[in-house]
Amino acid sequence: MNISPARTAAFDVLLRIENEKSFSSALLPLYEETLSAADAALCHELTLGSLRRQIYLDKLITHFAGSKKLDSAVRVAIRLGLYQLLFLDKIPDHAAINESVLLVKRAKKVSAKGFVNAVLRRSTRDKPNFQYTDEIDRISQETSHPIWLLEKWRDDFGVDEAEMIANANNEIPRPTFRLTPFEEIDSEIRSNWSRSDFVDGCFAADRSSPDLRLLEENGAIYFQDEASQMAARAVEISDGGLFLDVCAAPGGKTGLIAKRFQGIMKLAVAGDLYRLRVEYLRDNCRRQAADFVNVVQYDAIEGLPFANDGFDAVFVDAPCSGTGTIRHHPEIRYFLEPGDFSELSLKQLAILKNASKLVKRGGSLVYSTCSLEREENESVALNFLASDPDFELVRPAVDERFVTGDGFARTWPHRDGIDGFFISAFRKK
Ligand SMILES: C[S@@+](CC[C@H](N)C(=O)[O-])C[C@H]1O[C@@H](n2cnc3c(N)ncnc32)[C@H](O)[C@@H]1O
Repeated sequence: MNISPARTAAFDVLLRIENEKSFSSALLPLYEETLSAADAALCHELTLGSLRRQIYLDKLITHFAGSKKLDSAVRVAIRLGLYQLLFLDKIPDHAAINESVLLVKRAKKVSAKGFVNAVLRRSTRDKPNFQYTDEIDRISQETSHPIWLLEKWRDDFGVDEAEMIANANNEIPRPTFRLTPFEEIDSEIRSNWSRSDFVDGCFAADRSSPDLRLLEENGAIYFQDEASQMAARAVEISDGGLFLDVCAAPGGKTGLIAKRFQGIMKLAVAGDLYRLRVEYLRDNCRRQAADFVNVVQYDAIEGLPFANDGFDAVFVDAPCSGTGTIRHHPEIRYFLEPGDFSELSLKQLAILKNASKLVKRGGSLVYSTCSLEREENESVALNFLASDPDFELVRPAVDERFVTGDGFARTWPHRDGIDGFFISAFRKK
């Protein structure tokens, strides 16, 4: 019996996420491009679905198999089987079980075949009712978020918000995108799209489809979350202005800003830390017909290779924990550790301070993250303001409903159905 290409690809992707801490968003396109449309869709569902339920699936594995340490290939094959048995209606039990058994054989773990078979068969008969030690333990099991992260959100936002955030993180986000040459898109395809209420030029479709993927391949649309587009649109560049995007790769926001101010600004520069990401940024600007952007490699913590007071608009979309994007990247919750937020906030402040030196008098500085955490957001912005009296806080150029009482902007997965972003804007006096 052959293993289906969709399950083989999902298994390989999940094993790489488990062993290498790779991101599903980077791996899935590589594997899916070799699959038929139907197999690609199943691979996507199996991979992200297993990740979204991983803590619960592991709890079941411990219940059925005890807490002995399992080889990662064996664990991933069981998670994949359990996910299909418990969460997908259209897959027959025997297919889910047999293919997980074959996947461990393919991974050369032949001795584990009987074990995988027994665990998965048992799960079809034995439906455990787990007890919870407390409210956070219940939310952790129900939403597959680590206890420490839920406790942090409880302490920061309250237990109800923490639960709503965790539930929203397991929702499948609608595909959102922006257009390049709108007139060339078939009106029948367009008729299924809705316009964003809050972000100009942003559209959403009900679900992903081969039509949409083809449009993306042809460069007619660019997939980008509504909140990410909102952050890019908070950057304003005046006539003849010089613009720098400090943390630019992979270049979704650079492309939006560059196309929006093409012919208005005089110079666009975008840079990043890592060589491979810089190369990707350059290619991505080309794909978005924004190859006039000058792409540079540097370490923005060490210092930026530009003269002080040289730019009219500087954008810092800082490296962050990404806790606002768990809907799109479910594995982030397992990669993070409690010390990460304070470590990131030091880096973010250092980058923001270095970037601020490049802003001309009267120029603007926008700082954003896709994190929900105060340490990476309000704390960084307020520390920066306290450290530099030359800058004042200004209202970010976003829809009024996202502006907070303290003059920043926030979006939330559970309140707004979009990724969680923080946006702040400053003016150099
Ligand atoms: C949130 S991502 C930027 C996303 C990008 N603005 C977009 O919309 O596609 C943060 C970026 O900062 C880069 N980065 C991290 N540390 C850096 C540093 N010290 N100097 C410059 N860039 C850095 C990362 O490589 C990453 O590409």
